[in-house]
Amino acid sequence: MTPPDGPPGPQLSGTAGGATADGVRAIASSTPARARAHRLWGGVGGRFGAESAPALEALNRSVGTDFRLWPFDVRLSKAWAVALWDAGVLTLADSQRLEAGLDAVARRLADGAGPEPGDEDVHTVIDRMLSEEIGALAARLHTGRSRNDQVATATRLWCADAVAALDVRVRAVQQVLLDRAAALQDAIMPAYTHLQQAQPVSVTHWLLGHFWPLERDRARLAAAGRTALAALPLGSGAIAGSAYPVSRVLLKESLGFSGLSANSVDAVGDRDFVAELLFAATLLTVHLSRLAEDLILFGSTEFGFVRFGEAFTTGSSMMPQKRNPDVLELARGTTGRALGDLTALLVTLKGLPSGYNKDLQEDKRALFDAVDALQLVLPAVAGAIEEMTFRTDRMRAALASALMATDVADYLVRKGVAFRDAHRAVGTLVRMAEDGGIELDALPFAAFAAVHPAFTPDVLDALSPEASIAHRNLAGGTGAEAVRIQIEAARSALEPPRETPRGNEWTIAAAGGAR
Ligand code: ARG
Repeated sequence: MTPPDGPPGPQLSGTAGGATADGVRAIASSTPARARAHRLWGGVGGRFGAESAPALEALNRSVGTDFRLWPFDVRLSKAWAVALWDAGVLTLADSQRLEAGLDAVARRLADGAGPEPGDEDVHTVIDRMLSEEIGALAARLHTGRSRNDQVATATRLWCADAVAALDVRVRAVQQVLLDRAAALQDAIMPAYTHLQQAQPVSVTHWLLGHFWPLERDRARLAAAGRTALAALPLGSGAIAGSAYPVSRVLLKESLGFSGLSANSVDAVGDRDFVAELLFAATLLTVHLSRLAEDLILFGSTEFGFVRFGEAFTTGSSMMPQKRNPDVLELARGTTGRALGDLTALLVTLKGLPSGYNKDLQEDKRALFDAVDALQLVLPAVAGAIEEMTFRTDRMRAALASALMATDVADYLVRKGVAFRDAHRAVGTLVRMAEDGGIELDALPFAAFAAVHPAFTPDVLDALSPEASIAHRNLAGGTGAEAVRIQIEAARSALEPPRETPRGNEWTIAAAGGAR
């Protein structure tokens, strides 16, 4: 059937079987001199009678972004070749030739082969190279599959891989924090609420306060990796599922997925797994940003708690005295970028009708950008912390005795005074010291006795920061014993994960090995 006003150019004269040889020649000869790109969707001579516009090609081309998916696309393509043999679509020999051809393609790509100017996306690159390797047989691989289930599968595999790579780098930051923290167990500093001096804590406790958020980030990233591998899209075809009886269980097992997508429309059309990874990545950048902000602030002349090293700082082109904590600032700056990536993806997904839509091609730009940024930031942050000096003398000197006001109130509570009344009495003392322009511990004992009869001269002991810290040995507190336990917990968090026992193994382990 010829449409009433079809496109200009040659019309196919064939029947349902396709073009006649003459028709094909006519179409081929009408093609402009421009080199014909390798296309997965036919191009001129198939559905299309005219070359696509350069502006379309420039916009449509995603190979600059998605080329890095090639190891995963090769892997899933090899699994697909086997599945096609298993389904009786390919002979064993053809399936094996396809696998060997894909291995050859992978070797070339690993050796630095790259896209050619006409290649639309990574799937096109591999398809083209496969036909260069094994000729016409290459055209049989793309049976019963679509780039829609292909790209969703490759992206999920990439996510799982990225999560493993990020985990190593987050752990390295945690390890530096832990090493530095463990070496400072006797040092004391002010802790801040509202950025006002609040109470003394051990320096170890402050530093480990940045360790645990990263530990939760690692758990979130790992969960995002598991989510990515929880549902294999391959076999979903373009939207309705493959028409060939491929074993999706075989595919799932060979690709390391833990489950199959339950719905082909959903499998090709959603990118919630990317959003989960981006959220975990963004929250990680938020935590790195807070760590960076503490260090930048404490590295200022006014605080002077931290002195930056030289390998991870930069100088000024104008001011000779400067040593700038660029690494920490860039870590802080990455948060905006990652949040932008997460936001871009969520906005892209929000209005999409069901099934695959080309908007989804933008998912990888956001995903790769956030992960790439973290891959750069994490080692630099680890290095910057490793080389900085913690000026514990300055930290100790910054402790005003008013930080122990709560401890003085607690002292009165131990003597039977209600906390509310104790708070009021100590508040009066703090005001007296402030009015006199002296430290709280410089007030004469007579002042304490005048404010509350329960004070005895041993109140001065309550004004020492060491005593304040020693009183806080409950779990999670800054007391020395609690901090030692915290360090142990942090060390075991960084130990390599043990295999989770399953089924019978668990029963045996729970029974202490007895059978
Ligand atoms: N480059 C595409 C993407 O990233 C691959 C899928 C293309 N599918 C299609 N029907 N054109 O989403």
